[in-house]
Amino acid sequence: MSPASPIAILGTGSHAPARILNNDELSRLVDTSDEWIITRTGIRERRVAEGGETTATMAAGAGRAALADAGLSPHDIDLLIVATCTPDLPMPSTACLVQTALGVRERAACFDLNAACSGFVYALDQAWALLASGRYRHALVIGADKLTSAVDWTDRTTCVLFGDGAGAIVLGPARPGSDSRLIDAQLGAIPGTAELLSIPGGGASPATPEARRCITMKGKEVFKHAVRGMEEVARDLLARNGLTGAELACVVPHQANLRIIHALAQYLELPYERIFVNLERYGNTSAASIPLALDEARRSGRVKSGDLLLLVAFGAGLTYGGALVRW
Ligand code: COA
Repeated sequence: MSPASPIAILGTGSHAPARILNNDELSRLVDTSDEWIITRTGIRERRVAEGGETTATMAAGAGRAALADAGLSPHDIDLLIVATCTPDLPMPSTACLVQTALGVRERAACFDLNAACSGFVYALDQAWALLASGRYRHALVIGADKLTSAVDWTDRTTCVLFGDGAGAIVLGPARPGSDSRLIDAQLGAIPGTAELLSIPGGGASPATPEARRCITMKGKEVFKHAVRGMEEVARDLLARNGLTGAELACVVPHQANLRIIHALAQYLELPYERIFVNLERYGNTSAASIPLALDEARRSGRVKSGDLLLLVAFGAGLTYGGALVRW
């Protein structure tokens, strides 16, 4: 493959745990209501991994589906990246667990990448760069998270937001005769915002009584940064490629909050129907959110050959990122 060959998404897949936790059930755990959660977030239910399901098993499920969709075997993969902020273990990486589960060959680079909810877009950008170097041919890029393992089930301000799942894509040289390709990507991170959204315990920093392994968040501030970060990255990507929002057939945003997605649609001056939303059924699944939504969008016929797509994310860091894709 010459470095100049276009790189395209060759297949998509996803995996969500079977266990559904709806808002009424949550209302029995904390002082909340179905009405409050739907009005403020758009979320109706989320999935919860249980019975031995882990980030790695969900990632493997999504990866297997994406390989089948691409018509490739695990032996074709020489680059495997799992974007996650909830790895099964500090080491080895989730990617190495997935490698074994799927039977990906030994001569494959396997590693995890953590950019929280922006992780999938970060991983896509990195995989694209490595494939474009000509040193790798086919990448399996997975976003998988089990954020319910980091949720404080007594904190109503956060526990209603998150769910578990995984989504995956296969990247490789565009098929002959196809115009399908990755067009551009842009990543970013906002300095000085680490404390707005974090899991303050569980890493290698000294343990303190306050450093719990649960998500803490300043919701309103995250909200403002999320809207600004996604709008700016969308604007930059479109402008530098000579495109307008009107040319986007479908936007697949990070699925965190319906109000954030509405703000983005307004900014892009796009009819709401062009934004793909499935957060009412999954909540915020972090790095899984965009590939899970992309897989559903494609399988439901919302994305067609030749369509211009924008993937756009934000997350802890705070990080953000976007990618333009010709399907
Ligand atoms: N059920 C009922 N009431 C709740 C509640 C819940 N689950 N969570 C918070 N409340 C209460 C608050 O205590 C507050 O009560 P008060 O007015 O008596 O103090 C009131 O609802 C309003 O809370 P507020 O935080 O102002 O709500 P909000 O409109 O900002 O919505 C979020 C809260 C979290 C939904 C919103 O800020 C948000 O989505 N932020 C972005 C978060 C995000 O996307 N994070 C992931 C990034 S990847």
